Amino acid sequence: MTAAPTIAEEILDLKRQRRAIILAHHYQDHEIQEIADFTGDSLELARAARDAEGDVIAFCGVWFMAETAKVLNPARTVIVPDKDASCSLVEGCPVGPIREYRRRNPDHVIVSYINTSIEVKAESDLLCTSRNAVKIVNSIPADKTVLFLPDRNLGNYVQRETGRQNLKIWQGSCIVHNTFPVRRLLDAKAAHPEAIVVSHPECPEAVLDHSDFIGSTSAIVDYVAAAHQQRPGCEFIVMTESGVNFSLERVAPTSRFYYVANENCNCSECPFMRLNTLEKLRDSLQTLSPVVELSADLIARALLPLERMLAIK
Ligand code: 13P
Ligand code: SF4
Repeated sequence: MTAAPTIAEEILDLKRQRRAIILAHHYQDHEIQEIADFTGDSLELARAARDAEGDVIAFCGVWFMAETAKVLNPARTVIVPDKDASCSLVEGCPVGPIREYRRRNPDHVIVSYINTSIEVKAESDLLCTSRNAVKIVNSIPADKTVLFLPDRNLGNYVQRETGRQNLKIWQGSCIVHNTFPVRRLLDAKAAHPEAIVVSHPECPEAVLDHSDFIGSTSAIVDYVAAAHQQRPGCEFIVMTESGVNFSLERVAPTSRFYYVANENCNCSECPFMRLNTLEKLRDSLQTLSPVVELSADLIARALLPLERMLAIK
């Protein structure tokens, strides 16, 4: 008697039938990252989605990332394992006030973090990710007033790095990174005095002030890989979602990684990202749902700021 296929085998089989590519963010469960064709940060995933061939993009991340994939590659069917995989930044930045801001300040430049709804993207002049936010803001003429939204910690970080005074910052935050207490980071540093602190710019300023490196998830992975090459086996305190551990252990197998629990869940996991499971991925490939559906008008309006971002090297 032959054994029943595992879920991973079922997914691989469906992937072939559907001519699908599986894209995964670093914050996904490691079982999902293991089976993905590509794992990356939000900027790398946007590029991978734009370049994807085949018929289906199974996007294992959060909904706004899948919407971005659809905008960049509208001929593909884009599915997400769980429809409720949202983001506190998206939910804290409704489009109404942004439209009103645009109406009152037609000469201001609106720069939206990619962690926004498709409707907010469509009202924006430029998009950015945590990887290129400083570069994007630096590309705007110095005399222009910029509204940066929606993450206040990333906005403050960009303001410090660019020295830009005419930057207005929306007051949204990430429920995971914004609740990493600096007190717990200092305790971790006391317990591991040799450890290098690597942080995502969505962390509060007090945490960033005690960090040795600040960058997007993939920038953190690259930094750790380089540090490991120079000094194998060093220690890191990682101030971001712990799903990144899969990629970190891959690039630095003899290093040790310590995570600081946040005050929301007393863990370092994103409740939205972790809604996706291997079972739901299989089901979504079977049913081709939940599927991202966007009007042609929204796609056209959101594509403009996305393409402007991707053109800035
Ligand atoms: P990255 O830009 O590093 O992928 O981060 C996205 C995100 O949602 C961080 O919480
Ligand atoms: Fe959004 Fe924070 Fe989750 Fe990233 S970690 S998807 S910013 S809630």
